[in-house]
Amino acid sequence: MSTIDRRAFLAVSAGSVGLLGAIPLATPHRSRTSPRRPVIISSRNGMPAVTRAMERIRQGTDLLEAIVEGIGLVESDPNDMSVGYGGLPNEDGVVELDASVMHGPTHKSGAVAALQGIRNPARVALEVLRRTDHVLLVGAGALKFAKAVGFTEEDLLTDRARKAWLGWKASLSPHDDWLDAEQQVDTSGKASGGGPPPDVPFTDGTIHVSAVDPRGDMAACTSTSGLSYKLSGRVGDSPIVGAGMFVDNAVGAAGATGRGESVIQSAGAFQAVRHMAEGLEPTEACLKVLTWIADHTRRHDLVNDRGEPRFGVVMYALRADGLWGSATMRKGRTFTVHDGTEARSEPCAYLYE
Ligand code: GLY
Repeated sequence: MSTIDRRAFLAVSAGSVGLLGAIPLATPHRSRTSPRRPVIISSRNGMPAVTRAMERIRQGTDLLEAIVEGIGLVESDPNDMSVGYGGLPNEDGVVELDASVMHGPTHKSGAVAALQGIRNPARVALEVLRRTDHVLLVGAGALKFAKAVGFTEEDLLTDRARKAWLGWKASLSPHDDWLDAEQQVDTSGKASGGGPPPDVPFTDGTIHVSAVDPRGDMAACTSTSGLSYKLSGRVGDSPIVGAGMFVDNAVGAAGATGRGESVIQSAGAFQAVRHMAEGLEPTEACLKVLTWIADHTRRHDLVNDRGEPRFGVVMYALRADGLWGSATMRKGRTFTVHDGTEARSEPCAYLYE
């Protein structure tokens, strides 16, 4: 059985409802609303974002402004360690943020990468879109721009994220000068600190939102603190237009979360939108991108003994008529949909059991 045939078999035996060539379709998602109503989809952490964005759209706020405001709630939440303030830092203990936005009607995008000290990178990306002829500002230049247009610099490393980073450093190697958890000295009198190694949080999480308004205009935004404990200066897929998000106003919008390196090397969001342009439904388009990523993952350490990627990627797609879908590498993920009546979680279609 070829790799694709095996995947198709797995999904069919899991109860999927159809095949597109050799691509398994787990759960096709059809919008239950008129395409004339706004529809917003997001990653699973996007419930507050889609709720706020829908409120703003109903009040007449510009679509992209509305979703950036919604994402701002999650960026400012210290408990979401995958994005904005409270995000897990890089290997040096510094929070570096990536974000991008795209406005369908003008086909203009804006993005920032490796931005330090500003809790709402999506809003800075929106200012890049609005105020400059550029698309992507990085590092010190992005911070300089943000301060110039009125953002306030602050320390984004929360105590919780700092402790997670210290736990990660302690767990790295028995041969460096950071003592492992069991070696650490307990000054209360015991011989050693003892105890199990700390459960070091790790994330390649991100927030993505795509939206269509009652006129059929579209916008998208993706924001992240990126891969936990990444090399300083590492940029993921989130600020890369065509990878972490993409909009073609006549066709649809798409975005990605998960292992950014794989999404960049597949132009994930662009692929998903092109698949929709060729006639695939959003869920089919997402699964086709994931299949492409799986088939182009050649490094042995990134696949299991069945040749399936060990890492996670989730794709999200929204068509201009309001049809929506999402798919993940492995069963068990959800995403968020607001179809104009309510915000709810929906299961992602998947490539592997
Ligand atoms: N998808 C987020 C990242 O890899 O940075």
